[in-house]
Order: sequence, then structure tokens, then C-alpha cells
Amino acid sequence: MLGLTKNVKLSPSILSADFAKLGEEIKKVENVADYIHLDVMDGHFVPNITYGLIIGESLKRVTEIPVDSHLMVERPEIFVDDFCKISEIVSIHYEATYHLNRLVNRIKENETKAFVAINPHTPVEFLQDIIMDVDGILVMSVNPGFGGQSFIPNTLNKIRKLDEMRKSMGLSFEIEVDGGINEDTFKPVLKAGADILVTGSYAFRSENPEAALSVLKKGS
Ligand code: DX5
Ligand code: ZN
Repeated sequence: MLGLTKNVKLSPSILSADFAKLGEEIKKVENVADYIHLDVMDGHFVPNITYGLIIGESLKRVTEIPVDSHLMVERPEIFVDDFCKISEIVSIHYEATYHLNRLVNRIKENETKAFVAINPHTPVEFLQDIIMDVDGILVMSVNPGFGGQSFIPNTLNKIRKLDEMRKSMGLSFEIEVDGGINEDTFKPVLKAGADILVTGSYAFRSENPEAALSVLKKGS
């Protein structure tokens, strides 16, 4: 047992779902999901193309679970207003925009939670002058672009440092961790300070997604 004092939030990513049956796939996780994670990829910021607003709008028609949009795109400023309309959380990458503060403020003006995502090579210290303005930080624990990759162990140090920064600055932003989360990796991630876990392949490629997610939800 981890003796967790907080509730873990789960954000299953439809990246590993069967798109021919998206509505049915969502039903499989609905009882345990706090968010549905929407991985938007443009083929420029990452070497893969997924889906955009149209799929997000479809999700809204089949579930009331809030959408957590992760924009892995260049020039996210073009897209944020539209994604705010369908999302409770919008994550933009630190590496993808010149004007992070401006964009974070714009997301918040749209009454949406503003999260900043960082790639595995980006130090958490680079967030020193933005963390007081965000609702959350999304720490990538794989190189973004694909589901089913292995968790990068150094991510744990990054989560710990971010949690220390949060405490020492008296802040309450959430820490979301994305990539390679499964029943073998989630415990140290939570112990390091994560609040929200994204799970793609672990959730949607298991025989019983609800049972698989319940293991993470219990934290034991
Ligand atoms: C990767 C995406 C992740 C992905 C995680 O670029 O941001 O959200 O779906 O998939 P797993 O859990 O399989 O690593
Ligand atoms: Zn993601």
C-alpha cells in the first residue's frame, strides 16, 4: 500500500482505442475515468498524425466525461480557442510556442484549465517562471508521438523536483504524467507526486479496461 492521501485521477487516452468503435470503447472506461485524454498530433511537432477537433466533438456526443486535450502541435496558438470549447483541460507544449505566458492566459480566459507539457529532455527548472500561472504541468514520460512506449525512468526525478517546487512556492497546480504508465510503473510515479495518470495502451489494449484502470485508481 502506498498510503495515498489524495485521490488519483485517471485520464485514459483514446490513442490506443479502436476508432471503428469509439463510442463502445469509451463506455468501457466510463466508470473509472476522470477525463478522456485526446492526443492531438500534427506530423510536425511529433512524427505522427492523429485526429483533431472533429473527434473531440464526437466524444462530447457519446460521454459526459470531461475531455483532456494534449496538443502535440506546432503553433498551438492557432488551435487553442477551438479546443477550449470541448475540453476541461488543454495542455500545450513548452517546446512548441514562443509565447507561453500569453497562451496560458488565453486558455484560462476561455475558462479552461491551462496545463503546460514538457518533453523528456526539458528540465523542470525551465518552468520556474510559469508554474505560478498554470493549473497543471503534464510531464511526458516517453517521447511524444506514439502509444505503447516504455516509461523513461529519469521522469521520476523530474516529478519529484516539480513537487518540491510546488511545495516550496506554496502552489497547487496538478502534476499529470503521460507515457508508459501501467501496473508496473504507476506506483513510483504516484509516490513522486503525480496527481493525474494518462494511460493509453495499458487501458485500451487490456481485455478488461475498467478492471485495469481500477488497479491504478486504488493505488495498490
Ligand atoms: C504519446 C501520448 C500519450 C499516449 C500514451 O505521445 O501523449 O498520451 O497515448 O500511451 P501509452 O500509455 O501507451 O504510453
Ligand atoms: Zn498524451
